[in-house]
Amino acid sequence: MKIITRIEDLQNELAPLRNEGKQIGFVPTMGYLHEGHEKLLSEARRNNDVIVLSIFVNPLQFGANEDLDKYPRDMDRDEQVAKNHDVDFIFFPTVQEMYPEEPSVTVKVMKRTNVLCGTSRPGHFDGVATVLTKLFNIVHPDRAYFGLKDAQQVAVVEGLVSDLNIPVEIVRVEIVREEDGLAKSSRNVYLLEEERQEAKELNASLQLAKTSIQDGERNPEIIRKLMTEYLTKATNGKIDYIEIYSYPSLEPIKELQGQCIIALAVAFKSARLIDNIIFTI
Ligand code: PAF
Repeated sequence: MKIITRIEDLQNELAPLRNEGKQIGFVPTMGYLHEGHEKLLSEARRNNDVIVLSIFVNPLQFGANEDLDKYPRDMDRDEQVAKNHDVDFIFFPTVQEMYPEEPSVTVKVMKRTNVLCGTSRPGHFDGVATVLTKLFNIVHPDRAYFGLKDAQQVAVVEGLVSDLNIPVEIVRVEIVREEDGLAKSSRNVYLLEEERQEAKELNASLQLAKTSIQDGERNPEIIRKLMTEYLTKATNGKIDYIEIYSYPSLEPIKELQGQCIIALAVAFKSARLIDNIIFTI
């Protein structure tokens, strides 16, 4: 496994492999790898000849009051995780390497952003789309792997590669959960003991919704109300949103039909958590 910090060096490594017809799988991350990332790496390893893992905490996708400086980092551990998954290249650029000067061009995402986390994080998905456009152009992967925990990000990335004709297959990878149902996230480490206990209720509320849908409920408002009541009782966290949309277009719906998403965000004192389920009716 090679750790590469310069764009040109990575391109020089990958070009001959691509010419030999090797399939390149790409897992873009901001590091501090957890089991969710490990699942992306395993999926990538299964279906490609060469695996590139990028670790880059992208300043463009953090708002002024967000946790850029506080974002957890542990390169030694990440390296070990990457080795365990037989990663070929870790791309670990500096901010200076990725953004040598103030960008003269960025990507602006026009749809799928004014809902869910997009409303409370203006510009976030523009930052994600911009860095991914750069990374896709640097790596030229055949496939790129994204976790459905960030389902809005997956929807935005699918829109990005489709609208800008970026020749990469986006692979959706299922959410990995703790035993009690809490979706794995780098931010879980911030949770206080009692918040960690309550955090499992996010998934429990989604399961409650699922049962109600299986029992025939099709009205998004009734499901939202059910989940709001449950979470208000079960946690001290503040519900940021519980929203139900078509997926991946993220349009409001009056009745559950086709592929849909129920997504929620709950802000605890130490961390804001998100979770979702995607299902087809
Ligand atoms: O999901 C993430 O970790 C980031 O948003 C990504 C896709 C690596 C872009 O910086």
